Amino acid sequence: METLLLNEGQIDIASQLIIDGEVVGIPTETVYGLGADASNENAVRKIFSAKGRPADNPLIVHLADFSEAVRYTTYIPELAYRLAEKFCPGALTMVLPKNDRIPSVTSGGLDTVAIRVPAHPVMHRIIELSGKPISAPSANISGYPSPTTAQHVMRDMNGRISAVIDGGQSEFGVESTVISFENENTVRILRPGCVTEKMLMTVCGNVIVDKAVLSGLEKDEKASSPGMKYKHYSPKADIIMIESDLDGFIKYVGENYGDGVYSLIFDGDTENFPYRYMTYGADSLQQAHQVFQKLRELDDINARKVYVRSPEPIGVGLAVYNRLIRSAGFEVIRL
Ligand code: TXA
Ligand code: MG
Repeated sequence: METLLLNEGQIDIASQLIIDGEVVGIPTETVYGLGADASNENAVRKIFSAKGRPADNPLIVHLADFSEAVRYTTYIPELAYRLAEKFCPGALTMVLPKNDRIPSVTSGGLDTVAIRVPAHPVMHRIIELSGKPISAPSANISGYPSPTTAQHVMRDMNGRISAVIDGGQSEFGVESTVISFENENTVRILRPGCVTEKMLMTVCGNVIVDKAVLSGLEKDEKASSPGMKYKHYSPKADIIMIESDLDGFIKYVGENYGDGVYSLIFDGDTENFPYRYMTYGADSLQQAHQVFQKLRELDDINARKVYVRSPEPIGVGLAVYNRLIRSAGFEVIRL
């Protein structure tokens, strides 16, 4: 199949493809998604096969407004409405008990469904025009860094899906914050994103950060979110995180330098940095915006091994840290 590259003026074509049960690469404010009608089992199966995604890893269902969540769920806590008032539309995904309108393929066999109301005008318009709930995982080949441009999607998905809409570079660059509900005033962060723990605390009595956000699962431990257990965000290069000050980082890289070795460092680190490097921004928001793109670029230049300056795991930095330790397969060197 030839994959059409559409522009933002061709949203009607994309909406018709969704109605026809096809898969389309769609820009959102977080990353690009691989969208299809969440209520159409065949369409959803096409997403799994295009990505090579394990069948037990559930998809997020995107709606035009949070008020539509009642159509797909059996219960919505009051706290979810309060969160929606503040963060929907936006980069927050809430896990809720699902009803039969969401097929089991979409929810990876779980009895819950993850709901998000995206803010990006293109994604929003496609949901409205097609009149469908849209399931959309990140539009990368399973295990590879998430795409933040239409060109990244084309690189991974050309020939596998019907079309991609070019909506420019994703605003945030990391995927949405995924939460579940513990009780009437407590949520659990299953995946950190640009809606931070501190932001959630303005609405919730308590916010728990799931242990799997910062470290790997123990052997035989059950994941609260299936996505936690899979290898993720990994380019071909071997990624190694280094938690250290700049001097310690430079010394370590020097001792382990060789062919194809690169460093991924902060913008402020470059003066007198003696080895091959790329930068990924000066603060957490910039790092979120750039991290996946830089991992892809390191593959383009055939980096073999990449030492990464670790961000502070607080605020949006927690999201960046979470993606990087996964891309490093939890290989972290603390100096
Ligand atoms: O920003 C985003 O969330 C992007 C854009 C396209 O909306 N989507 C995205 O989807 O990142 P995906 O499939 O790449 O990641 C969804 C994550 C996975 O880790 C999955 O396991 C988890 O959310 N998830 C989905 N449904 C769940 C559920 N019912 N319970 C627990 N975790 C769930
Ligand atoms: Mg993903």
